Amino acid sequence: AGPRHLMSIADLTPAEFSSIVRNAAVRKQAVKAGQTPPSLSTSLSGQTIAMMFSKRSTRTRVSTEAAVTMLGGHPMFLGKDDIQLGVNESLYDTSVVISSMTSCMVARVGPHSDVANLAKHSSVPVINALSEDFHPLQTIADFLTIHEAFPSSKPSGPGLGLNGLKVAWVGDSNNVLFDLAIGCVKMGVDIAVASPAGYGIPDKMRQLINSSAEGVSSPGKLSETMVPEEALKGADVLVTDTWISMGQESEQQKRLKAFAGYQITNDLAKRGGAKEGWKFMHCLPRHPEEVADEVFYSPRSLVFPEAENRLWAAVAALEGFVVNKGNLLK
Ligand code: CP
Ligand code: NVA
Repeated sequence: AGPRHLMSIADLTPAEFSSIVRNAAVRKQAVKAGQTPPSLSTSLSGQTIAMMFSKRSTRTRVSTEAAVTMLGGHPMFLGKDDIQLGVNESLYDTSVVISSMTSCMVARVGPHSDVANLAKHSSVPVINALSEDFHPLQTIADFLTIHEAFPSSKPSGPGLGLNGLKVAWVGDSNNVLFDLAIGCVKMGVDIAVASPAGYGIPDKMRQLINSSAEGVSSPGKLSETMVPEEALKGADVLVTDTWISMGQESEQQKRLKAFAGYQITNDLAKRGGAKEGWKFMHCLPRHPEEVADEVFYSPRSLVFPEAENRLWAAVAALEGFVVNKGNLLK
């Protein structure tokens, strides 16, 4: 069998997903307390991690480079103008060559098939650093953030002890949502999605999200609406993302019009009946049209711890897929 890759949260069993999130939490606590296990900083020593990014990135790039450094490896950033990929060389050739010289490829691409093809031909693990369909590293960080904000009464159960929580996503049905929704279903967290007509979850993706419930004893439920207020009822966490993802720039005018009324504000949360102690999350980068300053810069907002948690998510993903070769329950 070839190496195990991280393409989407859909690739993980609930136990594996919880284990990655818990490991991220353990590493964060230890390092912050000045109790870094000595083996941590040598786990990737002498190894190079290729980072192939065909799109801009702040958090994913910095967190991955910092995580590789923390594990004693060398992060090699390869932007779209640095390598032949896509312009002068095929995915197949690139994948075979780069994987013959490195221990892992972390790739940010356009179509999901690009990262899937890299993985298919790679002799080392490939980690999806954002494709048009999925953003698994973000979802790991998001569940670490939720886990910290809603400490469980059952900290050592098989999941993360988040059953019964409700997430409300108000905005575009995009890559960040899809993995988040899969994570929610697996962790027993209900997720309600409000998107305007024409911007809802594609049928195939809805099937994948709902199929994540298979084998889960009390899966979270996905519900969908076109009315933001409806999604917010009883929600513990309100989440959104940009309305214009990278690659959709030409649709800006059309999208701004379609999403009018979807800005997350205190008034919207109140009208929709979100829980009193509701929190706010956003993967960033953020624009004011999708969430008002009064929410984004308020004590309800988890956005900066959420961004920092990308580092711990990257550490846990690299340990799981590269150091432990996909044996995630170790
Ligand atoms: N959230 C996220 O992936 O941000 P970047 O695009 O800056 O990496
Ligand atoms: N949905 C956004 C996420 C960026 C981190 C995009 O794909 O551009």
